[in-house]
Amino acid sequence: MTAPKKLFIKTYGCQMNVYDSERMAESLGGQGYVATDTPDDADMILLNTCHIRERAAEKIYSELGRYKVLKAANPDLRIGVAGCVAQAEGAEIMRRQPIVDLVVGPQSYHRLPELEAKARSGKRALDTDFPTEDKFEVLRQRPKSKRGPTAFLTVQEGCDKFCAFCVVPYTRGAEMSRPANRVLEEARNLVERGVREITLLGQNVNAYHGAGEGGDWSLARLIWALNDVDGLERIRFTTSHPNDMADDLIEAHADCPKLMPYLHLPVQSGSDRILKRMNRAHTADSYLRLIDRLRAARPDIIMSGDFIVGFPEETETDFQATLDLIDAVGYGSAYTFKYSTRPGTPAAERPQVDEAVKDERLQRLQALVARQQRATQDSMIGRDVTVLFERAGRQPGQMVGKSEYLHAVHVTGADLSPGRLARVRITESSTNSLAGTVFPSDDAV
Ligand code: 5AD
Ligand code: SF4
Repeated sequence: MTAPKKLFIKTYGCQMNVYDSERMAESLGGQGYVATDTPDDADMILLNTCHIRERAAEKIYSELGRYKVLKAANPDLRIGVAGCVAQAEGAEIMRRQPIVDLVVGPQSYHRLPELEAKARSGKRALDTDFPTEDKFEVLRQRPKSKRGPTAFLTVQEGCDKFCAFCVVPYTRGAEMSRPANRVLEEARNLVERGVREITLLGQNVNAYHGAGEGGDWSLARLIWALNDVDGLERIRFTTSHPNDMADDLIEAHADCPKLMPYLHLPVQSGSDRILKRMNRAHTADSYLRLIDRLRAARPDIIMSGDFIVGFPEETETDFQATLDLIDAVGYGSAYTFKYSTRPGTPAAERPQVDEAVKDERLQRLQALVARQQRATQDSMIGRDVTVLFERAGRQPGQMVGKSEYLHAVHVTGADLSPGRLARVRITESSTNSLAGTVFPSDDAV
């Protein structure tokens, strides 16, 4: 028997990339690869890239530059670039970095074994097509190996919204949903392997409309079907667009027992003028009304969002409107971004805001968001939450898990293993986590 080849995957960006990296590792497992956590002894290095961050492509080029010595030392090493930078740059990557053997876009991962074989045989392999076959069919999670208590499950991919700043519609392509029965099958498989919480993933996950019994299913319908999966305890989904927040999904937040009270619902800006220029197709007010409806359905729901500062033509008044919206909502967490141009997107061609102004706005935005985050966390002190324990903490006897509100919670001294759910009374709040004690007498639920 030949020794297994070692595969090192470095994952950048969103949770969908984390999911994709797992699938790629499984599919290359069929080619005799086992995972390694260092590039130094790898037979194959795969960068699963993200194009959302500023100068994303440049960072990948410099990371690749660092692998030159490894390639010089081991001519059998194969180097691949996957993900959204691969999609956006395509053959340019091979032109600029001769050490790259393989470039594969997110829609072509199911062709990875073929591409790997081609790269192994000494030819360079490139695939950035948007094929018509269903890559998820080929990349289904088959292995029966044990998993941790939480998992991501991609149900939807791509986006038709074309926000003026965003590359996703170009790198991930048109919006598509996986058939409901495939999602349910994959969910049951995950539960058999020990998973108790599933986060449904999609760039525009609440636009989900996968084929199902009786016609297309909405995301809410899918969530209700998952609610019936024995052994699955928690359901989350991300990322949503305000305009796809359908009535049945809001109602699910009121009625569906396994759907967790936390929602990531990006608004990007609080200024209608900027929202219009961003092509968001909603207003600050329609967003606020939506939040009111969600809170009426589930009063304790914690909101999270994404915000961009310094979008082209953003004035101080526009920015102030964003701060006002954040004040009005009260976020439990938020991701903040300084606008940066993405070639090929409409906003890249427009008059840009001065970098120093962007920096200053970002600081004010982050200060406000940090205050709200801390206030939300502190408001948990004295409350009882349910924690799904995931792993041992750094201190002896400590376990860490997540509350239903997605707060990290530390507990010391209780007899808890990963996968256990327990009621916890929160006693402390620190920068990024809470601490508490397992609720009297019944330490497991
Ligand atoms: N500049 C800054 N932030 C961006 N995002 C997407 N594209 C850009 C860009 N060009 C942010 C949005 C999105 C999140 C994933 O990344 O806020 O919701
Ligand atoms: Fe990008 Fe999200 Fe807008 Fe789609 S909805 S274009 S993924 S920011």
